[in-house]
Amino acid sequence: MSTISVRDLASHVGEVVTLRGWLTHLRSSGKIHFVVLRDGTGEVQGVLRHGECVWEGVEQLDDLEQECALALEGQVRADPRAPSGVELDVRRLVRLAPSPHYPIQPKAHGVDFLMEHRHLWVRSPRQAAILRLRARIIHAIRAFLDDHGFILADPPIITPSAAEGTTTLFPIDYFGESMYLSQSGQLYMEALAMALGRVYAFGPTFRAEKSKTRRHLTEFWMVEPEMAFCQFEENLSWQEQLVGYVVQDVLAHMQPELSVLGRDSEALQRVVPPFPRVTYDEALRLLQDRGYALTWGEDFGAPEETALAAMFDRPVFVTHFPRAIKAFYMQPDPERPDVVLAADLLAPEGYGEIIGGSERIHDLDLLLQRLKDHNMDPNAYSWYVDLRRYGSVPHSGFGMGIERVVAWIAGLDHVRETIPFARTLNRVWP
Ligand code: 4AD
Ligand code: MG
Repeated sequence: MSTISVRDLASHVGEVVTLRGWLTHLRSSGKIHFVVLRDGTGEVQGVLRHGECVWEGVEQLDDLEQECALALEGQVRADPRAPSGVELDVRRLVRLAPSPHYPIQPKAHGVDFLMEHRHLWVRSPRQAAILRLRARIIHAIRAFLDDHGFILADPPIITPSAAEGTTTLFPIDYFGESMYLSQSGQLYMEALAMALGRVYAFGPTFRAEKSKTRRHLTEFWMVEPEMAFCQFEENLSWQEQLVGYVVQDVLAHMQPELSVLGRDSEALQRVVPPFPRVTYDEALRLLQDRGYALTWGEDFGAPEETALAAMFDRPVFVTHFPRAIKAFYMQPDPERPDVVLAADLLAPEGYGEIIGGSERIHDLDLLLQRLKDHNMDPNAYSWYVDLRRYGSVPHSGFGMGIERVVAWIAGLDHVRETIPFARTLNRVWP
């Protein structure tokens, strides 16, 4: 007899085992009680018959409250009707810890209430499935990059200057000096690409986003690959290979979670490269044809992104954006310097931009000019400018937002459920 996981029960049919976990549900029918136990790896039903089971730590049946901690000892029995394929004939039940008046009851609670109790909400099967899915997605991203010669290199979180514009910076007091939480590790990744060739960052990033949308967090995780000797086209190719790999990996390994989430995986099966591409100009025309009153030079918002993505059955790249609406470091198109060699990858089904990437300026004078155009202090970026002085070569990279990818693959309404403890404009609790 040993303590084993619910997930492994099917290979222990006939054996006597001990399970430890929490009670999700109790139902009685005469002298038989059905106890559903979850242990983080799955759920199983235990069957208790009066007179055939020893109880410890329990005076009466009512002591078995939702989410009390339990140990169940019993014999594993195959049961084709059970979701896990097995049940447990319980001989001994020990209540390890009580759980009086558990706040989240099996009824519909509002999302504010659930977010307020996020520390408990994460126990629900649906939330646990999302977090398992997130872990698998991160695993797949890292496996892909590690297998393709990308070196994980961690940029700092505390930074002296902005990477993505000054409007979304979180300032922090650094021993009397003003510093910022990193919005993106990109500038550092460019330095590291010149040291290691292909690199990636995987970590938290911070944006003081004043927008209250389904897609914005103030603290989110980003994977940021950066490649030396890599130009615009190759950059897009890495992005579609990565996204295709991640989606197919999830389909191959996470069917139980996708079914808990009720995710229709048909749309995901189509996510195989190459992905369609439209230039900003073409996208603008497509949108104008459908009645969107946008003029050249305006950025796309969520409604435009959703409308555009709906015209394609796979993720779509929008390329060659007007220079003026994009970041200072982006390489202008040599044939048309008013647009940049940048692309956003839009996910299908209204999930919007999941990747932003570009070829970077590698010419010293051009970079200095662009800093000036953006009224940025070249002294604050002197180390970054240095990269253009010593063996500067074409290089490109991109940033993929983990939470948006999880929301899309899981088919969720909002990114707040894709991260264990979401940080948004109006929530930093718990
Ligand atoms: O497009 P963004 O701002 O690009 C960069 O930060 C580049 N420096 C990345 C790079 O080239 N290394 O952000 C990249 C991605 C977006 O496409 C989106 O998926 C996600 O990060 N993202 C957010 N996710 C959640 N909440 C927010 N507030 C986000 N802002 C960006
Ligand atoms: Mg972007």
